[in-house]
Amino acid sequence: MKFFVDTADVAAIKELNDLGMVDGVTTNPSLILKSGRDILEVTKEICDMVSGPVSAEVVATEAADMIAEGLKLAKIASNIAIKVPLTWAGLTACKAFASEGHMVNVTLCFSAAQAILAAKAGATFISPFIGRLDDINLDGVQLIEDIRTIYDNYGFKTEILAASIRSVNHITDVARIGADVITAPPSVIKAMANHPLTDKGLEQFLKDWAKTGQKIV
Ligand code: G3P
Repeated sequence: MKFFVDTADVAAIKELNDLGMVDGVTTNPSLILKSGRDILEVTKEICDMVSGPVSAEVVATEAADMIAEGLKLAKIASNIAIKVPLTWAGLTACKAFASEGHMVNVTLCFSAAQAILAAKAGATFISPFIGRLDDINLDGVQLIEDIRTIYDNYGFKTEILAASIRSVNHITDVARIGADVITAPPSVIKAMANHPLTDKGLEQFLKDWAKTGQKIV
């Protein structure tokens, strides 16, 4: 399973990247806003640091304008994945980018039907937003399972990039199903290390160690 980090916070990406935890990065207009940075500058900085795919999202709504924006974003670095929304215009742009050999991440996917269209349009990645489905009492993890089944039925090569991940359980749930990639905020990736029994066990070991009066170094 590949780990993408869902942020445009360069310091947070660096911390995880230095540990070898980062296979790629995803950004979106909201994350660029949060970073307070210029999209071209911050994306370039991320691409220089991370060797895997870095998703940068278009904001136009018509296919021709999306294509113009996407080609400009793709010029930032060779590891840019152009991110387009799952609209008819986005699928049109996806097909154009894929035909020219660009990586494409089709985002804002909320149904298996949409995921089929993205695969047909040559998407490199499909991004189902599982947290936002859970928010409206639908089952985001079930959507990942449905897309996995469908893609495997037909040998679609598009990678399932589980997005809008809100919890550690989301990550383990989609890993069990076989999502190819997760993208999660740095805080959720770091929370994967936490377990109360680890904390409790360590506390006891340290208490017992203190009683030995020994030192290792
Ligand atoms: O990867 C998509 C992500 O940025 C959206 O997450 O938590 O805003 O639904 P969220």
